[in-house]
Amino acid sequence: MLVLGIETSCDETAAAVLEDGDKLRSSIVASQVSLHAEYGGVVPELASRRHLETILPVVEKALRDGGVTLGDLDGIAVTQGPGLVGSLLVGLSVAKAMAYSQRLPFVGINHLEGHIFAGFLQEPRPTYPFVALLVSGGHTALYHCPEPLHYRLLGKTRDDAAGEAFDKVAKLLGLGYPGGPIIERTAREGDPKTIPFPVAQFSDGAPDFSFSGLKTAVSLFVQKHRPLTPRLIADISASFQATVVKMLVRRTVRAALRERARRILVSGGVAANRPLREALQGEAEDRGFEIFIPPPALCTDNAAMIAAAGYARLLAGERADLTLNASADLKLAE
Ligand code: KG4
Ligand code: ZN
Repeated sequence: MLVLGIETSCDETAAAVLEDGDKLRSSIVASQVSLHAEYGGVVPELASRRHLETILPVVEKALRDGGVTLGDLDGIAVTQGPGLVGSLLVGLSVAKAMAYSQRLPFVGINHLEGHIFAGFLQEPRPTYPFVALLVSGGHTALYHCPEPLHYRLLGKTRDDAAGEAFDKVAKLLGLGYPGGPIIERTAREGDPKTIPFPVAQFSDGAPDFSFSGLKTAVSLFVQKHRPLTPRLIADISASFQATVVKMLVRRTVRAALRERARRILVSGGVAANRPLREALQGEAEDRGFEIFIPPPALCTDNAAMIAAAGYARLLAGERADLTLNASADLKLAE
């Protein structure tokens, strides 16, 4: 079965062709980073306009690179939410038009479910049940996944998402946008033990996350130590990153132990972070968990993961109709 995936929820215009749920024929991602960089974050109006200009060339390239024509497809999967509504509508409109004109079945996919399905695009593939840590620019949450297409929310951030914290701290340090990859690079020259930033704790012991206190601590430190030297910027980056990694690893391990889960899947843009990947791998080896983290290009936003989730839903008989609408705050589970 050949599925075309389309993703336009934020600032990447992406399309991919996937065969039988796990054989990736093509995956095209057109990044808008340079468009938004000078504003220090994604500007929704600019994002939707750029999606509009880019979506058809991106879909055509995905089909061409995948060695297929529209007529070869068996179905279409498109991100329905959560995300920027104007951006989502671009992908949805194209998916609907193609599905209608080609008489193809199509499904709307929750972007977060897409991130989870990125874990099924490499060997070895996870088996159910597992605990999933989803860490991106808009979301930071833990889910229990007992069987395909079922999710239970275990814990989530009480304020900022992890990726958002990376982006805000990078801005504070004058490093640019997007913050995650820049902080990771800057931190390589620094010592993570220089500044003992606090890891938020909750008295109720919930496997929730919080990053706003850490962001404030970094901001206060920066104000006190101006002007910052490159050495200090590297040390702050390394100390901040180590604190985020510690929080993510601790809560994930706690949730997995509580659920008696033997497998952990980690995905979303921040899962591209090497120190986080290494810390999770180390913890998994020590405690005997099996860990699944997609390669970095599949952790950040892409359409291959949307096609993978779409394959599972189409196979389960799910069909959307032309009334399918974008949903900015679509939930994966309560
Ligand atoms: O999943 P994603 O591409 O988009 C959303 O669904 O939000 O995640 C983007 C987020 C951004 O906040 C970015 O700074 C962060 O992921 N990110 C990273 C790294 N690469 C991307 N954070 C830390 N380290 C990285 N290497
Ligand atoms: Zn994402």
